[in-house]
Amino acid sequence: MISIFCLIFVLSPAVQCAKILGVFPFPSVSHQIVFRPIWKELSRRGHQVTVITPMPLHDSSLVNLTEIDVSLGKDAPFPMDPWIFVTGNTWERLNFIVETGLHFIQLQLPKQPLQDLIKEDKPFDLVIFQHSFLYNIKKWGILFLGISSLGVFPHSHDSLGNPTHPVVSPDMMLASFSRFQSLLYNFWYRMLYYWYILPKADRIARKHFGDDMPYLGDIERNMSLLLVNNNPIIHAVRPNVPNIVEISQLHISEKKPLPQDIKDYLDSSTQGVVYFSLGSNVKSTYLSVEVRQEIIKALGELPYNVLWKWESDHLPDRPPNVLTRKWLPQQDILGHPNIKAFVTQGGLQSIEEAITNEVPLVGIPFITDQPSNIKRIVELGMGQMVEHQTLTKEKLKEAILEVAGDPEYKENVRKSKFIMVDQPMTGVDKAVWWIEYVIRHNGAKHLRSQGADMSFYEYFMIDVALFLLACFIAMYRLVAKIISKAKRFINSNKKVKRN
Ligand SMILES: *[C@@H]1O[C@H](CO)[C@@H](O)[C@H](O)[C@H]1NC(C)=O
Ligand SMILES: *[C@@H]1O[C@H](CO)[C@@H](O)[C@H](O)[C@H]1NC(C)=O
Repeated sequence: MISIFCLIFVLSPAVQCAKILGVFPFPSVSHQIVFRPIWKELSRRGHQVTVITPMPLHDSSLVNLTEIDVSLGKDAPFPMDPWIFVTGNTWERLNFIVETGLHFIQLQLPKQPLQDLIKEDKPFDLVIFQHSFLYNIKKWGILFLGISSLGVFPHSHDSLGNPTHPVVSPDMMLASFSRFQSLLYNFWYRMLYYWYILPKADRIARKHFGDDMPYLGDIERNMSLLLVNNNPIIHAVRPNVPNIVEISQLHISEKKPLPQDIKDYLDSSTQGVVYFSLGSNVKSTYLSVEVRQEIIKALGELPYNVLWKWESDHLPDRPPNVLTRKWLPQQDILGHPNIKAFVTQGGLQSIEEAITNEVPLVGIPFITDQPSNIKRIVELGMGQMVEHQTLTKEKLKEAILEVAGDPEYKENVRKSKFIMVDQPMTGVDKAVWWIEYVIRHNGAKHLRSQGADMSFYEYFMIDVALFLLACFIAMYRLVAKIISKAKRFINSNKKVKRN
């Protein structure tokens, strides 16, 4: 049956059945849940999909899906203290992302199933990879397509020739900045990426894929298309070349029934419930004891019940109105009519879930895009921000009471939802359409910007600027010479007259 489909694929321009490899190695739930719906849907549509993932689904109903498990065990050691990621400055946090990413790649690459895939010489029609994970993806095929679970870093724009104006379209890592800082960041980031990260990742790749591979940076630049998870509410609009396509709300799923105990708790809390979760990367158990104590005191004084995703069995000094669970079905909880407010770290996925379910927010942002996401939420009147560095019982309690008590916040969330969901197709359908488009058009080279293949000096017209500067200097000197000659001539004329 499958081979008949493949035969049709070979004979007709329509994509019936392609062999697709997904490279999604980052061990973080909030990234994986964005990619999963895409690879599931591709396999349901009859493509033969193989994915490299640390969090396999093991779903036997997905008969066209092969999962290559690169999980690192329950407690994969970080190369450095994860608290740096939360409390460090921009440089330290970026360094953490880079070192952690490379560290995990080094742990995953020697795994047997991955080694088998590397040794096997079985090319795929398309390689979809988590951008920007620095694997030698060329090993597995010649067409690549990147997907980012959040915005993208400056080098990703460079690889497709997308303009990066430091003031019009500042980077997602910058929540508040001056124009000068943004310009400096743009330079500094590129030096870090091109002179440190890329060469290091290239050395690692060579160790595992063999030395006869092209430079990793050149492989990345041959990407056909980049899908970026940009939410039309949270992210400022920006100009994009045609092969950067914005998608959003990928992980929003159909409502499922709540577990009975949670349902009973929510149903019986007629005074209202505050849902508290700091997501999957910033665990509530990372909080310092002082901050945790302030949060517990604030929650204990609320006139509402609180449902807290707390990642350990015991919460010290748990107030009677607080119920904790290690894991909670967040989307379905936010859909319950008794939820009054959502206290969140401000990850993009959590915000999309809150907007979809019309729940106003209190943000305690920590990392990457979270501060800028929450800033935007506050600007749009959808919630309040409480900084973890200066969090006190009063501040948190006040923010929650304000957001849960004033219907204006919910109304603003509803307005944003109206904009967010008004799309020609769902995020998953859009992603799958573009993936099939790239296969149908053999890489869709017609979408590629000329800027992507220009050198640095051509792109910034440095040669033209230098030429104009030289012309200016020559002109200046010429005019200066003429003036001085003329002066001398006039002076000598005067002398002649006087004489
Ligand atoms: C698997 O792929 C075939 C075509 O190759 C398709 O007809 C079928 O619906 C797919 N099944 C599932 C469960 O994804
Ligand atoms: C990039 O693509 C071009 C054109 O298809 C090809 O000639 C070149 O070898 C590729 N470069 C790398 C590093 O894969």
